[in-house]
Amino acid sequence: MPNYRLLAISGSQRKSSYNSALVQAFISAASENISIEVLDWSDVPLYNQDLEESFPTIVTEIKQKIAEVDGIIIATPEYNRSIPGPLKNLIDWVSRPYGQGAWAGKPVTVVGASVGSVGTALAHADVQKSLMFNNAHVLGQPEFYLGFAQNKFDEQGNLTDEDTKQHIISQLAAFTAYIDTLR
Ligand SMILES: Cc1cc2nc3c(=O)[nH]c(=O)nc-3n(C[C@H](O)[C@H](O)[C@H](O)COP(=O)(O)O)c2cc1C
Repeated sequence: MPNYRLLAISGSQRKSSYNSALVQAFISAASENISIEVLDWSDVPLYNQDLEESFPTIVTEIKQKIAEVDGIIIATPEYNRSIPGPLKNLIDWVSRPYGQGAWAGKPVTVVGASVGSVGTALAHADVQKSLMFNNAHVLGQPEFYLGFAQNKFDEQGNLTDEDTKQHIISQLAAFTAYIDTLR
């Protein structure tokens, strides 16, 4: 039985997404006491407050999964120096209905991969802002930005960069230690 049950969210639905590949690299690097499930959120509708009257089953199921795990890894792309719209849509849904969202008290580490040189720092800031507003416990440091992602994975999406592998192991160690402080 793993000590830490984590849920990973890739902020990109793209088939060859570097952020999804990064999530897989976290899974490969995880020690035996860590389990990481990947969240499928492809069927989440575009948010419209009217839809809350008949709350989408898929969102209820996602909220349930979030409630059950010890922590969340969010791998976010950066779009126009900010959070990608689809990921913000998911964060908003999970925050609803007002006062009954699933983020409160949940440990989260935000990581991200980008093809640019400066990684995803500005996207992180926006993801973190929305989560913290919802009383999630967001790991501030260490930060994890993967720039030039196109040079770090092979054609099958396997991580080939040794430094990044070590960085992932360190991030998991820091995140599980953070979860311990909140238990
Ligand atoms: C609409 C759009 C805006 C983008 N803006 C940024 C940006 O602000 N910063 C950045 O580093 N990369 C930016 N990119 C490039 C992404 O880093 C690149 O598309 C990356 O592969 C997206 O992540 P994914 O591979 O997980 O889908 C942008 C891409 C798109 C499609």
